Amino acid sequence: MDEQNLTVRGVSDTARWVAYFRAQETQRPDALFRDPYAERLAGQHGFHLANTLPDGNKHEWAWVARTYLFDQFLSRAIQDGADLVVNLAAGLDARPYRMNLPPTLQWVEVDLPDIVSYKEEVLKAEIPRCRLERISMDLSDLSARRQLFAQLDARATKVVVASEGLLIYFTTDEVASLAQDLAAGEHFGHWIIDLASPGQLRLMQRTTGKQLSEAGAAFKFGPPEGARFFTPYGWQARDVQGLLKAAAHFKRAPVELLSLLPEPKGNFGNYPWTGVCLLSKR
Ligand SMILES: C[S@@+](CC[C@H](N)C(=O)[O-])C[C@H]1O[C@@H](n2cnc3c(N)ncnc32)[C@H](O)[C@@H]1O
Repeated sequence: MDEQNLTVRGVSDTARWVAYFRAQETQRPDALFRDPYAERLAGQHGFHLANTLPDGNKHEWAWVARTYLFDQFLSRAIQDGADLVVNLAAGLDARPYRMNLPPTLQWVEVDLPDIVSYKEEVLKAEIPRCRLERISMDLSDLSARRQLFAQLDARATKVVVASEGLLIYFTTDEVASLAQDLAAGEHFGHWIIDLASPGQLRLMQRTTGKQLSEAGAAFKFGPPEGARFFTPYGWQARDVQGLLKAAAHFKRAPVELLSLLPEPKGNFGNYPWTGVCLLSKR
């Protein structure tokens, strides 16, 4: 692959970048999770992106805490009887292969066509632990996604949706519209998201965000209301976990950031907060 092809070519390349952090975590003797597929999935391109994007290989504690919290929330939802996981913007996530899952569980991954076909190719010899399907779709296509959500709603009794690392690439209006479309599904009971505060969004826009923006993958969403943003669209925050707090719990938070704890109560504003939220249908 030449240098040109190793730069960010679009939003789907961010999936390779995230896989890099899962590969790094997997190497640690004290790993909080192990993803034996991540190194292969990230590939040369993912490692190159992480090591060349501004701050691209920093803040691994945050990426690891995010994956850990999504794992926890998903496991809990499945234990509580979810029979369908819908992973929107699944990227190179390998949870259906690496998590302990009931074989009857339905798991649907949705992402853009290029990354779906790349992943199919890399994982073609592997066997998922549940009933996995992949769907190539641009989630900005309103009619296609509404049709998909209606079909999924009809074939499950308890749906949990995950969108890890997606909403930040959407505008406020696009997030509101997606929230409404998901809330329309009668059986769509839970939605796990990650969220940045306005202060964190600005920090990210000034660092890695510049180059991603040039590649058409700008960071856009960091609502001042935090998880309460979703209330008018049918979703209530049930559990909100900051990444720094989670990382501190595992003694992974950088010492220089510990003075930021405890997190402020109420709106985060300029406070550099990112976290994972479990939303439930109101
Ligand atoms: C940062 S990656 C996260 C991937 C994965 N969830 C993870 O955490 O490893 C963002 C993902 O969003 C996907 N994405 C962005 N915009 C999308 C859209 N309009 N429709 C479908 N997928 C989209 C990208 O292709 C990419 O896989």
